[in-house]
Amino acid sequence: MLSRIKEYALKTNVPIITDAGLLFLKTAISTYKIKDVLEIGTAVGYSALAMASYGCFVDTFERDEEMISQAMIHLDMFDEKKQVKLIPFDALKYTSELRSYDLIFIDAAKAQYEKFFEKYTKYLREDGIVICDNLSFHDLKPENVNRHTRQLLRKIDTFKNYLTMHPDFNTTFFDVGDGMSISQRKLK
Ligand SMILES: C[S@@+](CC[C@H](N)C(=O)[O-])C[C@H]1O[C@@H](n2cnc3c(N)ncnc32)[C@H](O)[C@@H]1O
Repeated sequence: MLSRIKEYALKTNVPIITDAGLLFLKTAISTYKIKDVLEIGTAVGYSALAMASYGCFVDTFERDEEMISQAMIHLDMFDEKKQVKLIPFDALKYTSELRSYDLIFIDAAKAQYEKFFEKYTKYLREDGIVICDNLSFHDLKPENVNRHTRQLLRKIDTFKNYLTMHPDFNTTFFDVGDGMSISQRKLK
């Protein structure tokens, strides 16, 4: 099932989590005994269905119409136990309340990570974790890229700095996949 979605994503150039990133996520889900997940960035449902296959219940945001249609097809085909709920909205514009989660997985527009973190950590359980993907941006160097990418690189750096300096969370960065982090609330 997952290999079919992965094949589809590769064929249609949809960016999905790397194999190493997914293994990292799977290990974290088991280590931290994660059940309820909020994902920001469904794309075609690959990581959401993977997390469901590890036993999680996943609410997942996607704003792009084409991705939403394709994710719905994949969920209809593969989410037999109805563990994944697609929220077809821009996560930054969504105004309804959500339930609470053990894990918030941020894998969406890189320039907005701080806004996602600020907006959604109120739904994180006391002992929950936030995992962010794409923090190394394929190890690109500012001097070798165009202006737009350079701005993105700067925003990623600013976000990493924001996490490092955060008064309420401890964050560890991992050189896995496209660069991942785990943030956990500081003990009071
Ligand atoms: C890297 S892909 C997600 C890959 C997916 N998590 C996986 O590994 O299978 C990022 C997705 O986030 C979506 N996205 C970006 N910003 C968003 C936002 N503000 N709200 C909802 N979805 C967003 C994009 O449309 C894109 O499909």
